[in-house]
Amino acid sequence: MQGLNSLESYGIGTTPIHLAKALCPIGQLYVKLEYVNVTGSIKARTAHYIVSDLIQRKKIKPGMTIVESTSGNLGIALALFGREIGVSVVCLVDQTIPPRKIQRLRDAQAEVRLVELSVHPDFRTARLVEACRLGKLADWIWPNQYGNEAGMFAHEETTGSEIWEALLGNVDCVVGTLGTGGTLCGIARALKKRKPSVRIVAVEPCGSTIFGGIPSTYLSVGAGLPEASPLLHRHGYLIDSFAKVSDVLAIQTCHTLARLEQLYVGITSGAAIAVATQLAASDPEQIVVAIAPDGAENYEDILHGEFTGGEGVFDVSEVHDATEWHRILRPQESAT
Ligand SMILES: Cc1ncc(COP(=O)(O)O)c(C=O)c1O
Repeated sequence: MQGLNSLESYGIGTTPIHLAKALCPIGQLYVKLEYVNVTGSIKARTAHYIVSDLIQRKKIKPGMTIVESTSGNLGIALALFGREIGVSVVCLVDQTIPPRKIQRLRDAQAEVRLVELSVHPDFRTARLVEACRLGKLADWIWPNQYGNEAGMFAHEETTGSEIWEALLGNVDCVVGTLGTGGTLCGIARALKKRKPSVRIVAVEPCGSTIFGGIPSTYLSVGAGLPEASPLLHRHGYLIDSFAKVSDVLAIQTCHTLARLEQLYVGITSGAAIAVATQLAASDPEQIVVAIAPDGAENYEDILHGEFTGGEGVFDVSEVHDATEWHRILRPQESAT
């Protein structure tokens, strides 16, 4: 089977890196705008690498079905490439996914299956158990984005390298939200091998417990997990610091960015930018890059819902050292 065409030919990669001077006048803050990728998110890169890897390893052929647990963005992108190679895509989602993303999955001709909590402790576990079951059926395959090295390599080879080249190596710190961890760990590997002092700051929504804490629900779809993914167990040592950001702060930051920079980003982007702004403002010598994985259009209902703001409640979260967290990682955990 022939491989996929180049990233560029689909309109993926070489995304803009925007100097956010109005948002952070005293610091050097850049925002990497991933919503300009085809399919509207950073996950276009991930899906391209995951499908290319399956083709290269002869794990997939026309007529087969890819099943994946997704909060939308990866599923939308997998559907694009699945269609191209004659493979069906089944996306396991849960009720936390915004309706607009379900619509986009259907537009992309993915089959959407809504999982129920039933006996499972959380939605992610429910999605994974079902993905694992379906992935064992004849002619079905589950790439498992939570443990897929090809997905992480996408960001080492493309996203991280693009940041380095765009800023001519003048980068000190990168801030991004974590889901699988593939985006941030891939970027970290690309940058640290060129400049070991680059600091990587991971952000999770309050309520997500990758870095511990008390679990609760949150609106930042795409980021956050009950615990570290297999990718994070293997590569989490690349993360230097972490912060937790409330939905309120993330959403408020999206509104501020729209007002000051005319950039319309998704909620997880708002979370990363909130922390990145704090870091850039606290040390104007540092060049800080925030990753914006997708745009605002998928979250209009949330962004323009009840969280419209008010001064004083949007505390900036503290940034913690991740060394203690490294001790709980289990790097030997198998790939998928
Ligand atoms: C909007 C959004 N933000 C952040 C992430 C986290 O990316 P990763 O899974 O690479 O950690 C995702 C992942 O799907 C996402 O969709």
